[in-house]
Amino acid sequence: MKILTILGARPQFIKASSVSREIKKYLQIEEVIVHTGQHYDTNMSDIFFEQMHIPKPNYFLGIGGATHGAMTGQMIERIEEVVLKENPDIIMVYGDTNSTLAGAIVASKLNIKLAHIEAGLRSFNMKMPEEVNRILTDRVSTYLFCPTDKAVENLYAENYQNTGCNIIKSGDVMLDGALFYKEIATQPNFDIMGDFVLCTIHRAENTNDINRLRNIIESLDTIAEEIKVILPLHPRTSKIIKESAIPVQNITITEPVGYLEMVWLLKNCTIVMTDSGGLQKEAYFFSKPCVTLRDETEWEELVDVGANILTGTDKSKILEAYHQGKNKEIAFSEELYGRGDASGIIIKELLK
Ligand code: UD1
Ligand code: UDP
Repeated sequence: MKILTILGARPQFIKASSVSREIKKYLQIEEVIVHTGQHYDTNMSDIFFEQMHIPKPNYFLGIGGATHGAMTGQMIERIEEVVLKENPDIIMVYGDTNSTLAGAIVASKLNIKLAHIEAGLRSFNMKMPEEVNRILTDRVSTYLFCPTDKAVENLYAENYQNTGCNIIKSGDVMLDGALFYKEIATQPNFDIMGDFVLCTIHRAENTNDINRLRNIIESLDTIAEEIKVILPLHPRTSKIIKESAIPVQNITITEPVGYLEMVWLLKNCTIVMTDSGGLQKEAYFFSKPCVTLRDETEWEELVDVGANILTGTDKSKILEAYHQGKNKEIAFSEELYGRGDASGIIIKELLK
């Protein structure tokens, strides 16, 4: 069986590392990896392939940094060429980025089976590019690998059970990775002493709206008067903060870090404050409270169990949530995201 895996953005490298490791156990499966180039800086891409021993991509398309339409269009064209040459049995895509959507469209045009890992998630906010990408991808998928019960429920609510696709609750491949890498986490090479808050910010809805971004930065800067706030910053946000001259006085801003360093930061922080999808779950995997700087989340179960507080970008809500969350004891239950064996479940299903 030949699986053609499409990757492009940081969270996809992290998710795919566990699945590629699983694929290697099966002599009868060949994996061909296509990297679209959506993320291209060394510390947004190469570092993950090196640290996590992800097989080197067979194809690097070099399509990054353009507008969303241009990026997605170019990806479709180039991925189609590769697929016609490789003739895979299955195309595998992850999550909800433009690279995901491009892979899904090619699979549907060429009538090749599509496996969507992290299917069924919904924020119910169609203004988010990710929501559109994931809905369109789900709609043309043959295999919908759902990380949570809620994801399965979402698909049933949209009547997917009557469309001939396979809905499988696999659990979350990010849990597989967190469990695997936690033993070899590495302290970052910048100075960290005492308690700290771990933050990331990069979502379009927060970075494209300068008022939202300003509110977030001002809130984190206030929190940083009492506790160290470490913000490994996505290049997108970094550029916008510089261009808009938003003042940063107390926050410790660093370059994006590798996954091994990120796991160390997760293990050692007091609380996570983020607008990332993946980091909300990782906070939970490491029993840390999380404040989510968005108006809604796809990971509602975390809010339900009290591990995650949603604040949007209102300054008083962010400060209140930080104070409320920082001393919270979070009891981790593996069952919410499976048992760390999602990659195995996925590959066994594809081999059936
Ligand atoms: C993308 C995904 C988002 C995901 C995020 C993970 C879409 C629509 N969005 O958002 O769902 O949460 O990745 O990190 O696919 N840039 C660099 N160097 C890089 C990568 C990006 O400088 O290595 C800059 C470029 O200016 C680029 C901008 O960041 O234009 C945005 O990158 P893009 O890939 O369009 O979206 P992300 O915000 O990274
Ligand atoms: N991450 C990382 N280094 C960083 C920031 C994030 O390794 O500097 C990891 C993080 O631990 C998680 C993934 O990147 O595994 C999340 O990706 P991101 O926040 O870019 O995207 P999202 O999850 O929002 O789609």
